Amino acid sequence: MSRTPPVSGSATDVVVVGGGIIGLVTAWRAAQRGLSVAVVDPEPGGGAAQVAAGMLAAVTELHYGEETLLALNVESARRYPDFAAELSEAAGHDLGYRACGTLAVALDADDRSHLRELHALQLRSGLESEWLSGRECRRLEPMLAPGVRGGLRVDGDHQIDPRRLAGALVTACERAGVVLHRTWAERLSVVRDRARGVVLADGTELAAEQVVLAAGSRSGRLAGVPEALLPPVRPVKGQVLRLTVPKAYAPFLSRTVRAVVRGGNVYLVPRVNGELVVGATTEELGWDTTVTAGGVYELLRDAHELVPGITELPLTETRAGLRPGSPDNAPILGPTALPGFLLATGHYRNGVLLTPVTGDAMAHALATGELPGEARPFTPQRFSTSRPALSEQPA
Ligand code: GLY
Repeated sequence: MSRTPPVSGSATDVVVVGGGIIGLVTAWRAAQRGLSVAVVDPEPGGGAAQVAAGMLAAVTELHYGEETLLALNVESARRYPDFAAELSEAAGHDLGYRACGTLAVALDADDRSHLRELHALQLRSGLESEWLSGRECRRLEPMLAPGVRGGLRVDGDHQIDPRRLAGALVTACERAGVVLHRTWAERLSVVRDRARGVVLADGTELAAEQVVLAAGSRSGRLAGVPEALLPPVRPVKGQVLRLTVPKAYAPFLSRTVRAVVRGGNVYLVPRVNGELVVGATTEELGWDTTVTAGGVYELLRDAHELVPGITELPLTETRAGLRPGSPDNAPILGPTALPGFLLATGHYRNGVLLTPVTGDAMAHALATGELPGEARPFTPQRFSTSRPALSEQPA
């Protein structure tokens, strides 16, 4: 029998495992509802948000078969202006939220066919997107390559600086009374078929009425979680570059510019402060976060085809992060079959975009026991049919 861990004080209402943007927004919104909340993470505000470009691309990142996810993405995009204003006020600093729109362009005939198909799907889905000729694209963005064959102007796909977003959420949490435990959660405590808190790396038990697992790509690895309830998330590597636009070159780009080049996505996200983010690779390589010469080469090659002047800019940072991929590319939200144990993970390509709606949905679930309507298609139960039920697990 394992020893009984020391218990730290009386039970808090909610412990959130994972202090990335999803865990923090859950904690902040729950604290605003009057719940006592703690977050466990060695580096709150770290994680994938430190690498992400921060596109709020509900329309330009639409994919076939993801229509259910689209509704959640669009709803979160709709909430973004108010969310950003409220969080900025709560944290006392700007988040780099920029309503700049996006231009998705085609460089050859294949890309143009692909973009035409995407345009038709966007219009069928009731989204706003306008087809432009190559000349019209270059009139909007003069730095584009002369060979651009056409594109989609999407004025509703904006951007935010995810590092500022993460920093603001840390501050807002602290100001709302959320306790940050800067350590690892070692395992979930389950007592009499109910989650009762977590055991920290030093063996201290943090007792809680409810536990939210929001540990991004690591969410499938928390010890103590019954196997049938471990979320089916996997790490999907993305390499991202940061360049700097010298003042003399500004405005280099006035909106996000993106394309599919040789089957891979490339996007250029210009910030007001002169940062230009270029992303991203999509690699199924497990826990590897190495920045590779090949990854950097491919991103620069594709970005250069799109915007040749990019090679003049200083390259200031290269990094790789891990997206939390789920089997259907959509997040996994809300209560599980284990009372007191909830999930907020699996946001894959849309973690930054889905931050506002996730915070609202999770706080609602924590306060009432139920997800609001817009989040109900994303319950953990949608993956439970192919896995043994909790009661069928070996004791
Ligand atoms: N949403 C952009 C990416 O995941 O690369």
